Amino acid sequence: MIVTIDGPAAAGKSTAARALAERLGFDFLDTGAMYRAVTLAALRRKIPLDNEQALEKLAASLKIELRGKAVLLDGEDVSVAIRDVEVTKHSRNVADNPGVRRQMVLLQREAGRSHNIVAEGRDQGTVVFPDAACKFFLTAAPTVRAERRQVDLAKRGLHITVDQVLADQNERDDRDASRAIAPMVPASDAIHVDSSHMSLTDVVDSLERRVRQVQSHESQIA
Ligand code: DC
Repeated sequence: MIVTIDGPAAAGKSTAARALAERLGFDFLDTGAMYRAVTLAALRRKIPLDNEQALEKLAASLKIELRGKAVLLDGEDVSVAIRDVEVTKHSRNVADNPGVRRQMVLLQREAGRSHNIVAEGRDQGTVVFPDAACKFFLTAAPTVRAERRQVDLAKRGLHITVDQVLADQNERDDRDASRAIAPMVPASDAIHVDSSHMSLTDVVDSLERRVRQVQSHESQIA
């Protein structure tokens, strides 16, 4: 079974998706981490991020593995390095590259072929798994997301005002939603969940309820 969770940055997708996967006993596919791993490799090798072909070649040559909470890049644990601000800043350029996306989609579909997964990203319900049994689009009000992100950054020692975070976030949202390839839009059959006034537990409860309904419906018609 494939469950997809798409939506903008800082809507709580990763945390909710990971918790949901744990409750269901599914694998968690953090697709943003995959784009971040390619970005890290490109920065380390000083590959210009506007060189489409070089980036696609790089993406095809990398071994990216998601193992529990760890992200391995050619065998090296890069779970912390991929969360670096520089990687975050440049990952959008890498994610805009059609060749990189082609490579990542192959890896993502491969992961979904043999396992039950909760796949989290921007294009999981629209492009990667259009036939997923259960699709969610998780959002929160822009100011709520910016506040959450500011707290997150402060914990990592980065003190930025909410206004700055919001400005950056708006730019990122516009870009993700308007790009030509795999834009961040809800699938027509996605269930919208607004987490602005919900706790993480409430969000996960509501997603889990829906997945269990679908599971029980599918087992009845099987
Ligand atoms: O969700 P995140 O911040 O870890 O994502 C990192 C980058 O990858 C971000 O620029 C959005 C992009 N992304 C994407 O384009 N498609 C996905 N399925 C997942 C992430």
